[in-house]
Amino acid sequence: MSEKKEKTAKRGSFTGQLGFIMAAAGSAVGLGNIWRFPYLAAKNGGGTFLLIYLILVVTFGFTLLTTEIAIGRKTKQSPLTAYKNVHEKWGGIGILACLVPTIILPYYCSIGGWVLKYLSVFVTGQGTAAAEDGYFTSYITSNTEPIVWMLIYFGITALIVFFGVEKGIEKFSKVLMPILLVMIVAIAIYSLTLKHTDASGETRTGLQGLAVYLIPDFTGMTVKKFFMILMDAMGQLFFSISVAMGIMVAYGSYVPKDTNLIKSINRIEIFDTAVAFLAGLMVIPTVVAFTGVDGMSQGPGLMFVSLPKVFASMGTVGQIIGFVFFLIVSFAAITSSVSVMEAIVSSLMDKFRFSRRRSAVIVAVYTAIVGVIVCMGYNRLYFELTLPNGSTGQVLDILDYISNNVLMPVVALLTCLLIGWVVKPDYIIEEVTQGKYKFGRKGLYVVMIKFIVPILLFVLLLQSLGIVKL
Ligand code: PHE
Repeated sequence: MSEKKEKTAKRGSFTGQLGFIMAAAGSAVGLGNIWRFPYLAAKNGGGTFLLIYLILVVTFGFTLLTTEIAIGRKTKQSPLTAYKNVHEKWGGIGILACLVPTIILPYYCSIGGWVLKYLSVFVTGQGTAAAEDGYFTSYITSNTEPIVWMLIYFGITALIVFFGVEKGIEKFSKVLMPILLVMIVAIAIYSLTLKHTDASGETRTGLQGLAVYLIPDFTGMTVKKFFMILMDAMGQLFFSISVAMGIMVAYGSYVPKDTNLIKSINRIEIFDTAVAFLAGLMVIPTVVAFTGVDGMSQGPGLMFVSLPKVFASMGTVGQIIGFVFFLIVSFAAITSSVSVMEAIVSSLMDKFRFSRRRSAVIVAVYTAIVGVIVCMGYNRLYFELTLPNGSTGQVLDILDYISNNVLMPVVALLTCLLIGWVVKPDYIIEEVTQGKYKFGRKGLYVVMIKFIVPILLFVLLLQSLGIVKL
């Protein structure tokens, strides 16, 4: 009953711990886990990236997730005003945090469009064509089709936000998320059994890919390379658990006071990391089997290139599995993009007192325009820009870089300074231990938020901005 009491006229609340975990997981688990994690892990050599990522999850991820959710629950406000409530002079963090989803949304929708395209390919029984080399590249470099699919994907997201029915899709989430997990596990196991002989007569197996994925290889590691991997891992972590962009502050503000925060946070982290890990297990062995270790640096298209090959190798059943797979990935993506768009829309509503519909229309026009530019980045507007982290990027990579490698670290750094040094960690600890819950890693939390996280973030930022070249 106590949850009911928390309900105020303005701010609803989750129905207890499970509702909160499911909603946060719905936002957290998305293309970040299934598309972004495997391609970054592959690009950064597999095992080393995985190891660094896992260490970051239990230190950085835990610290930031706890901080943001606790700020939200304590202030009961959305990010735009929550930081101001924590400290009069630090309201700017809220504004910066709201910029992040604004940058993410258009390119997230472009990738959502790729997923829908592949879904349509499998529906119409052309799955085997998609397994051919060059299919993905010729698709994204075509002029109109990617734009059409991006707009369809974004249209679905926008309608859900426009009518404010995102609570309704949580019900689907509860059923579809577990199915997605089972499918990923099954495909991952299958990919380990793959065996492929290429034109030069070399045979490679999925198990060789497994070794690449799991065993860190430090040969040839330089300080510079290490920092690049660290930077990619950190950007990925922020993106994946949806921190440093205000979303978790907003979610925290809906959490009832009697919820055990630490326990919920642990579950969200475990679930999110498990999906990412398994997605890597599904993609990397396949890539190694079909294209060798050299194929691992393909970048954002990796999942779209490798999975159709797995499905094709399964024969007719593979086509059905491929269809169901892309269907569920579309769903996981939509639950995330809805939360990204909702974050921007609710900020506009708070800040300018716009109605939901008006805010949604403004965000829709902006996203459609930038989304089209992102799609055109692979054809009419194609260019190659060397990013400070050494990779070459098109429009999509640049937006991704600005949000994940620059803005998110800035938001996270400022949040650490505010909590660690200005209002002091007790501010968070008090909130977390409300109701006499135990804060298991309290000591770690204090050291992390005051010293380790800010120092590392600072160094990484200098590196991402190209100010310090290691
Ligand atoms: N965390 C989501 C994912 O992994 C993406 C996301 C980013 C969701 C930003 C909300 C905000 O796909």
